[in-house]
Amino acid sequence: MKEEMQVAINAQIQKEFYSSYLYLAMSAYCEKENLPGFAKWLKVQYQEEIEHAMKFLNHLLERGGTVKLGAIAEPPCEFGSPKALFEEVLKHEKFITASINKLYETAIAEKDYPVQVLLQWFISEQVEEESSACAIIEKLKMVGEKGAPLMYIDKELSYRK
Ligand code: FEO
Repeated sequence: MKEEMQVAINAQIQKEFYSSYLYLAMSAYCEKENLPGFAKWLKVQYQEEIEHAMKFLNHLLERGGTVKLGAIAEPPCEFGSPKALFEEVLKHEKFITASINKLYETAIAEKDYPVQVLLQWFISEQVEEESSACAIIEKLKMVGEKGAPLMYIDKELSYRK
């Protein structure tokens, strides 16, 4: 596996682990704000991000590459209202989508076909990630962010497996 491809994948592993760290911080914040359903949804998201990082890590290993883990930055600990928090989720996912797309361009330039196949899963996943964050923002806009309607959304999010 070419060096440039390995560097790019290692950088993506770092971003996926940062995503997990960010969502864990968001989950803890929601727990503290008495929004257990939001906290649960974000905790599932945290676990999914670790799976994303591991998909890249395992791919590197399967191809005889070198895993070089970078430092994970400290995420914030305050996120404002649920809508503000989910706007941050969406912004972060758009950043990840751009990063995945860039990785795909590198895989094309390097003629790395296995990475292109791996990335097709991630490209579809990013469509889903952005769409679910958007859907939650839209619901929060519709109901406002207080009282019984907020509790209803909190309950709904608690069902995420
Ligand atoms: Fe791993 Fe939420 O993208």
